[in-house]
Amino acid sequence: MIVSGSHSQVLASRLSRLLDRPLADVEYRMFPDGERLVRVRDTDDHAVVVASTATDAEWIELLQILDCLRDAESVDVVLPYMGYSRQDQEFEDGEAVTARAVAEALPPVTSVTTVNVHEPAVLDWFPAEETHDVDASPALAERFLDLENPLALAPDEGAVPLAESFASAHGAADVDHLVKHRLNGEEVELETKELAVEDRDVVVVDDMIATGGTVSEAVEMIDRQGAASVHAACVHPVFARDAVVRLHRAGVERLVAADTLESTAAEASVAETLADHLRR
Ligand code: R5P
Repeated sequence: MIVSGSHSQVLASRLSRLLDRPLADVEYRMFPDGERLVRVRDTDDHAVVVASTATDAEWIELLQILDCLRDAESVDVVLPYMGYSRQDQEFEDGEAVTARAVAEALPPVTSVTTVNVHEPAVLDWFPAEETHDVDASPALAERFLDLENPLALAPDEGAVPLAESFASAHGAADVDHLVKHRLNGEEVELETKELAVEDRDVVVVDDMIATGGTVSEAVEMIDRQGAASVHAACVHPVFARDAVVRLHRAGVERLVAADTLESTAAEASVAETLADHLRR
């Protein structure tokens, strides 16, 4: 059976249809003091849990779901979006490596699958027999097939593999990248670079958009250099604060995300990719 986290119901339902497996009846409740209760009313020997963990509450909810499933023979966990995956090291002395803390908090499971997780090395921290990371960029690229010879631009070096995989799935895109310096959690600075964007369609490709700072800065640079049109594609639409307005104010024409998080921009579904992976 497919067991959905409270914020992954759309993707879990798509997977349930594609895999022809039932969706478990799950109750999510909150007590007056803010504590949560989860109840999985169905039982099955084999469970696939689909739960993005964008917030602390969603991490707790995942632990609760896994506790409900402690007697199952196999539990495959799909984390479409793994919250805290960016805190994968001690950037300053004494900081918690939160990606490790949350991964190690899970009970032993059969497998953990993420989608374009920010740093694949974090998968080693999960107490799982197998871990996998699947790629949403083919689903994103499909939404840009109307652009004849776009430039897939990674806004930083970390996004280059994603932009390359986007370009290869698109079939007719070139790749370039910028260099980013993060000033703090909200501000970034991009090194100025002359790009071959004049009269060209450009798609800025990144794993996630949080405040929108990274992509907005990239879009402004591309616009100044005379691009014909500028678009943004991301796997995880985290969209903190005014990210969407910020992107459109910067000049983004089309904003496409995958459905790892529920958002109106989540037009590109990773359900087929995940279903193929789970069947295997
Ligand atoms: C960072 O390395 C990530 O790949 C994204 O570029 C970043 O998290 C986006 O954050 P924001 O939208 O706040 O600039």
